[in-house]
Amino acid sequence: VFIILTTAHDPLTVNVGFSVLAGITTWSAIPALSEIFVKAGLKGMDLSKKTKHIIPESMGMVAGLIYLVTMFLFIPFPFMKWFTASNDGDLHELKLLTFPNLKLAELLSALLSIQSMVFLGFADDVLDIRWRFKMPLPAIASIPLLMVYWVHLGVTHIVVPIPLRPILGQLIDLGALYYVYMGMVAIFCTHSINIMAGINGVEVGQSLVIACSIAINDMIFLQSASTGAPAIETHLFSLYFILPFIGVSLGLMIHNWYPSKVFIGDTYCYFAGMTFAVVGILAHYSKTLLLFFIPQIFNFLLSAPQLFRLVPCPRHRVPRYNRQTNLMEPSRVVLDEEEDFEVEFSSTKQESKRTLGRSPSSVSLSSAGAAGASTQDSDESPTESSNPPTTIRLQDLRPLKNSKLKRSGWYCVKILEALGLTHVRYDSKTGKRPLEMTNLTILNLILLKAGPMSERNLTISVMVVQFCCSLVAFFIRHRLVAFVYDV
Ligand code: UD1
Ligand code: MG
Repeated sequence: VFIILTTAHDPLTVNVGFSVLAGITTWSAIPALSEIFVKAGLKGMDLSKKTKHIIPESMGMVAGLIYLVTMFLFIPFPFMKWFTASNDGDLHELKLLTFPNLKLAELLSALLSIQSMVFLGFADDVLDIRWRFKMPLPAIASIPLLMVYWVHLGVTHIVVPIPLRPILGQLIDLGALYYVYMGMVAIFCTHSINIMAGINGVEVGQSLVIACSIAINDMIFLQSASTGAPAIETHLFSLYFILPFIGVSLGLMIHNWYPSKVFIGDTYCYFAGMTFAVVGILAHYSKTLLLFFIPQIFNFLLSAPQLFRLVPCPRHRVPRYNRQTNLMEPSRVVLDEEEDFEVEFSSTKQESKRTLGRSPSSVSLSSAGAAGASTQDSDESPTESSNPPTTIRLQDLRPLKNSKLKRSGWYCVKILEALGLTHVRYDSKTGKRPLEMTNLTILNLILLKAGPMSERNLTISVMVVQFCCSLVAFFIRHRLVAFVYDV
């Protein structure tokens, strides 16, 4: 408090002080509130542990509330010089004339958007809102911010990369589409963190790497910008939002790290995503922001066939915990059943018709017992069931007419398999009917490529991937950019 009072003339120092306090408060408040959350029914089962224990969920609410309180207390500081000006009549007039109302509106609307998402995340934790309803809500929550953006900055053009300038010119004005794009950024940031989730510490871990990348990017800009440059203000504002976020996330991370004592819930995922979207929009660097989301963009594209239901999407796609080894393995989703069926390719009916006699009960196909199923398979027909055909023939790509997969889903499975992004298990007799595939998430893909690992190491791997992608993002933003933009 002493430091804050003595340095009150510098908002950034105050913000750093507040961020540290917010972190310590979050860290100490969570254990004190855990029991209250459990009593209120806000609890969840840790899916990847030997003993299935229940721990408090939605602890992102505590982090979100402490963040909001911190930001509310911080509101006066960027405007301190207007408060401390003399109350002398003329000066008071001057104060009213020069007060940056739009800056204050920016700050307030940003907080309103973040607060709305904390509220929505909590509602999702309590009510389990359906995807089709919750999907567009972040765009709606960003309307107050976009409104202020329209009045204050109103920049809707994008600078065309140098190689494309002969065709498109130097600037393209996207007009209203720019606002649609920013709404989509808000939707993407919030949901992409929520679908890269489900193992201890991974949601907070990825958010911390992104937040630190944003803060470093702001600091690089502030270091290199010439005094009085207009973007200094926006990057400072970005830091004001991101530093307290790093503070509360660190406080939460200590309890959410493996083995988790609390879950963060959808509340934290939405809160984190909206905070990132807000700084990206306010500081007018949504493209740089998206560079820090490379793993999330990849995870979203990989997940798309399941999200858009081209292939089945189970309630949980998190990696599967193996009790015997205490390691995480890729989880699988059931695509079809092994049963009596006729192999009939959709385009050449007569050409390859075969009848098989096989009992439906001979292979267990529960998604939770995927490893068990493959063990059983290996007893029966080790080569055919677990290994996909080594050479891909055109005929193999053709969907089976009586497959339960949609035609589009069939092609997705085949393409993803060919790209090595999923492992498909085929029926044991013909080796043509896909029965199971590994769930389409980056977590399962890491396990597929690197082999089974502990839950803790999987979280660390995700953070390392996120960190490496941030390095690539910095390289693109601060080095490669010189080839495509005038900097
Ligand atoms: C999203 C994912 C889902 C994933 C889930 C995990 C999509 C479309 N949805 O769903 O596949 O399984 O997140 O959060 O990709 N849990 C743990 N350990 C953890 C964190 C969570 O076991 O470290 C479990 C707990 O049972 C907790 C539950 O996940 O109760 C929370 O799931 P929830 O956030 O409600 O799932 P969604 O966000 O709907
Ligand atoms: Mg979730």
